[in-house]
Amino acid sequence: MKNRLIYSYSVLSIVLVIMLTFACKKDDPDPDNTVKPATPYKFEVPQGFPTILNIPEDNPLTVEGIKLGRYLFYDGRLSGRDEPDSLMSCATCHLQSQAFEIGENHPKFTDGHPFGLTGIKTPHYPLPLFNLIWNNEGYLWNGMIYKGNTHLGYPAYGVPAEEPYNMTNIESLVWMGIIAPHEMHGSIQMTVDMIRSIEMYPALFEAAFGSKEITYDRISKALAQFIRTIVSADSKFDKMRRGELSYTQSERNGLILFTTEEGADCFHCHGAPGNPLMTTNLFYNNAKDVVFNDPRDRYAVTKDARDHGAYKATTLRNIELTGPYMHDGRFKTLDDVIDFYSEGLIYSEYAHPLMHKVFPPYGNGAGLNPQQKADLKAFLLSLTDQTLLTNPDYSNPFN
Ligand code: HEC
Ligand code: HEC
Repeated sequence: MKNRLIYSYSVLSIVLVIMLTFACKKDDPDPDNTVKPATPYKFEVPQGFPTILNIPEDNPLTVEGIKLGRYLFYDGRLSGRDEPDSLMSCATCHLQSQAFEIGENHPKFTDGHPFGLTGIKTPHYPLPLFNLIWNNEGYLWNGMIYKGNTHLGYPAYGVPAEEPYNMTNIESLVWMGIIAPHEMHGSIQMTVDMIRSIEMYPALFEAAFGSKEITYDRISKALAQFIRTIVSADSKFDKMRRGELSYTQSERNGLILFTTEEGADCFHCHGAPGNPLMTTNLFYNNAKDVVFNDPRDRYAVTKDARDHGAYKATTLRNIELTGPYMHDGRFKTLDDVIDFYSEGLIYSEYAHPLMHKVFPPYGNGAGLNPQQKADLKAFLLSLTDQTLLTNPDYSNPFN
């Protein structure tokens, strides 16, 4: 009797197991339960930094997404080709050693001005990639990529007005980079086909997005995730802010010049200890010219007459590494830039009102003496962040 009972229990459990297995096979795309959901990434806001982050709702940061993005960032086959002379990735023009800009001493892109696979130079000099997660005002020198932008397509490159060709966030920079003749000069299809053909990627996509499927949407999301994690918050300036190090007398004098209107008056546009991003991420005409005909200035985006000749007041973090300076690279050195703000300003009706030193009672600049110039430069050099340049999390994962 006892034996029979055990027997029927066993039969019952076998039947149950078979039924369950069947049920799973039917509906579950992942019958072996091998794909774990991606791990949410905890983004740590450094002390004193803003807490409002630019992370689109449909692309939360995950550990696996960031990992995949880092591979893609450094993979020259992102260009859609694998011949040695047609490789190009984001890292071709955004180098960790140069704060993810090109810098002035690049062996191929002499004078810091890159060109695409066609040999055509980029319309403007590059921008560094760090602390972009805090930019809610718009990407690129003129801010043409911004949240809520409903514009689609790019007729100049024959790109139709349809998804995924939007211009809303870092994700959008991916299709632009792939297609632009001054960058990869390829197509989304070529890039997707190429990445699909590489053995290591399906597993990385599965870990990041739940299935092995490789799409443009996933490529652009992973790249944007990686870029959002690149943070610069550990320069001497930061250590001074946190009370870990003190400034030299010269650096301190430079900081005072930087943050006072009677001094050099830089802080309205480029930040201060209260705004450690060292940029407002806003756009100004900083009084360099009288004629404005660049088809890619801020005016091209807003059509507001006050925006002729206006560009983003870029962050001054790591400014030592990102010369030559301004959107058109017109100043070779930081000394040239300081001389410009000291005595080289040129009045036009478009000069931004915050360029106080170009209006009466001033005229062509802050009029700094040699010691003040040296102090201002010492302060600017204190914004270089070695931790950014050496952080293994941002380095080339293929090495
Ligand atoms: C051929 C060189 C080159 C390549 C390759 C390149 N970039 Fe850039 N990048 C630039 C230049 C130049 C700018 C500034 C363009 C402008 O504003 O006119 C820029 C700007 C950016 C910005 C805006 C930064 C800011 O502060 O507004 C982002 C984001 C960016 N690139 C991401 C990428 C990504 C992602 C890739 C790879 C898909 C990539 N770039 C590949 C040259 C390049
Ligand atoms: C009214 C706003 C404003 C003020 C004030 C101002 N700047 Fe700028 N700054 C800008 C803008 C806008 C740009 C980019 C212009 C361009 O690319 O054509 C810029 C560019 C720069 C650059 C080059 C950035 C790069 O990535 O190439 C440096 C360096 C710089 N400013 C330093 C200073 C210093 C030092 C002061 C004070 C003496 C100062 N700025 C005052 C708006 C301002």
